[in-house]
Amino acid sequence: MIFTVAIDGPAAAGKGTISRAVAEAFGFAHLDTGALYRAVGVKGGDPVEAARSLTPEDLSRDDLRSLEAGQAASRVAVIPEVRAALLDFQRRFARRDGGAVLDGRDIGTVICPEAEVKLFVTASADVRARRRWLELGGEAAPRALADVLAEVQERDARDMGRTDAPLRAAADAQVIDTSALTSAEAIAQAVALVAKALQR
Ligand code: DC
Repeated sequence: MIFTVAIDGPAAAGKGTISRAVAEAFGFAHLDTGALYRAVGVKGGDPVEAARSLTPEDLSRDDLRSLEAGQAASRVAVIPEVRAALLDFQRRFARRDGGAVLDGRDIGTVICPEAEVKLFVTASADVRARRRWLELGGEAAPRALADVLAEVQERDARDMGRTDAPLRAAADAQVIDTSALTSAEAIAQAVALVAKALQR
């Protein structure tokens, strides 16, 4: 069965949590496409070369989830040749047999416009910054909340403002705003939308 769930949205909106839960609920494979850009961003050297030669080891580095890796990813993600180098792998993953969930910024618009389900997961910048800050340790975090907010806003502006595959909701995407939802509620909404599409 070919069935793709495309989950796009800005940083720290809850895409990762929702994607993993949807994949688990339906037995689909999951690809966190942000990890590809993060791995390119932290690899150093020429980003285009890095994107063309990514290895499974590059994708299992411990430092991929850091704020710095997120910023580095967002910077290399504006380079069209980097995006082109990562395209085929993502497309093949999306159409693999058995169902796939991909989360990122351009899955429903560029990587898999034919996806059976497209979700755009978002939340206010304040809520996203607070979540990221709590993940980093809250009061014990190495960054003040205001700095994390500035970082989130900078990344949003770059991801939405780039020319090649900017972050935006596909015209046929269903929006889930997680600002006032618990993660269990957000997951339940996403699972219900996928279940409905599977029945068609
Ligand atoms: O989802 P994330 O925070 O791990 O993504 C890190 C950065 O990678 C994000 O700020 C922009 C880039 N990215 C992208 O351009 N396209 C994707 N499909 C996924 C991520």
